[in-house]
Amino acid sequence: MPECFPTALRSLPINMRKILVKGGTPLNGTVGISGSKNAALPILASTILLGGETTISNIPLLHDVITMIRVLRALGMRVEYSEPGRVHVWVGGKIRHVAPYELVTKMRASFFVIGPILAKEGLAKVPLPGGCAIGSRPVNFYIKGLEAMGAVIRMEHGFVITEAKKLKGSSIYLDFPSVGATESLMMASTLAEGTTVIENAAQEPEIKDLARFLNKCGADIKGAGEEKITVKGVLQLKAQDYRIIPDRIEAGTFMVAAAITKGSVTVKDIIPEDVAVIAAKLAETGAEVETKESSVRVSAKTLPKAVNIKTLPYPGFPTDMQPQFSALLSVADGASVITETIFENRFMHVNELNRMGADIQTEGHSMIIKGVPKLSGAPVRASDLRAGAALVLAGLSAEGQTLIDDTDRHIVRGYERFLQKLNGLGADVKEVK
Ligand code: EPZ
Repeated sequence: MPECFPTALRSLPINMRKILVKGGTPLNGTVGISGSKNAALPILASTILLGGETTISNIPLLHDVITMIRVLRALGMRVEYSEPGRVHVWVGGKIRHVAPYELVTKMRASFFVIGPILAKEGLAKVPLPGGCAIGSRPVNFYIKGLEAMGAVIRMEHGFVITEAKKLKGSSIYLDFPSVGATESLMMASTLAEGTTVIENAAQEPEIKDLARFLNKCGADIKGAGEEKITVKGVLQLKAQDYRIIPDRIEAGTFMVAAAITKGSVTVKDIIPEDVAVIAAKLAETGAEVETKESSVRVSAKTLPKAVNIKTLPYPGFPTDMQPQFSALLSVADGASVITETIFENRFMHVNELNRMGADIQTEGHSMIIKGVPKLSGAPVRASDLRAGAALVLAGLSAEGQTLIDDTDRHIVRGYERFLQKLNGLGADVKEVK
C-alpha cells in the first residue's frame, strides 16, 4: 500500500487471497450499503475537468477506488482520502496528459479518463486497457465518439494518443449502449464548443449520478439516464462538493444472499428503484420482497423456484448480477436458463459452481441450470469480481466448507467490508492466509 495513503487505507485487507466460507446458516438482519463503485470511478475521473477543490463523499474504500486515486495523482492532481468515505480533490492548472500504463491496464475502468484529459488539455495518451476474465473489452466506441468531436487519434506501442485543440460538439450514435463510452464522451463534451448529442446512450443510474455532479459544477447536460443525452459545452466547470449514490450491485448481492441461505435480510441506505429489476426477479423465484423508502427486505423460507434470465443494458437485468443469480438458481426447484448478452465470456464461475455440485451446462451465450437440492463445499477459484461474490454466496448455502482462492483479490475490488458485513448477518466467513 503506497505510504502516501493515510492509515485508513492500510486497513484494507490487501492480502485477502483465500476466503473460507462455512455454509448452512441462514442470514438474518440489516446491512448498510456502501457508495457505488461504478458511480465513484467516473465521478472521480470527471474531477479532471474541474478547477478548484471538491470533496466527494460516500466513496467506498475499495481497491478500484484507490487505483483511480492513484491515476489522478499520476496526472499531477492532489487527491486525499479521509474517513469515512471522503475524497478531497484539488485541481489547479494544467495536468499531465499521460495516464500510467501499470494502473490503466490493472483496471479497465480507468480508460475513461481519456475523455476528460483530452477535453482539459487538448492532448491525451492512455494505454489500451487489457482484456479481462469477462471479455476482450474493446474501446472502439470511445475512439469513434472522440473522432466525431474532431479529435485526431492514433495507436502507438499499446497507447491511444489523441489530440484536439478544442473538441467540437457533434452527434454520436453508440452502436451499443456502452456505460464507459457514454461516461467518457459525456465528460469530454462538457467543455466542447457547441452541442453534443449522444444517441443510444447507456441509461444506468451511475450515468445520471455523474451528470448530476457535473451539472452541479456548471455543466449543461440533459437526458442523462435516457437513451439520448444532450450536452451544451461550457467554458469551465467549478468544483462543488457531492455525495454519490449507493451501490445497487452490492445491494443486489446481499438480497441474493438472503434468498440462497433461506434467511431474511434488509438492505438499507439504498435507492429502491435502482434495484427494482433485481427485486422483481427474486420475487419471481418465490422470495418475499418488501420495499420501503430507502430499504428492501428479502426473505425466503424455501429454496427458489427456477426462473429464466436475460442480461440487458439498464433498465434490463444487470449483467453484474448474473453470476450471483447463477449461484442462487443452482439450488432452485427446476431448470433455469440464463442468457448473457453484454459480455462474451462471463461464465467463468460455472465450472467452479459445478465443482460444488451444481449442474450447469453452457451453450454459447446461455447456461442451462438444473437445480440440485444442495451444493457441497469445495475448493474453488475466483476469476473476477462478481464471480468471486457468487462463489461466496454458493459457499454460504453449501454443506460444509468452501475455500475460495482469490489470489488476484477480485472481491476487495468491489465490496467494502464484505466479510464483516456478511458475518454481521450471521455468516461464518473469514480470510485465511
Ligand atoms: C461498466 O463497464 C461497469 N464498470 C461494469 O461493471 C458493467 O458490467 C458494465 O458497465 C456493463 O454494465 C464500471 O462502471 C466501472 P461497457 P464498461 O462499455 O463500461 C462492449 C463490475 O463488476 N464495448 O458497457 O467497461 C464491451 O466489450 C463491472 O462492477 C465495445 O465493444 O462496460 C462489452 O461487451 C464489470 N466497445 C459491452 O460493450 C467499446 O468501446 C458493454 O461494455 C466499449 C464497450
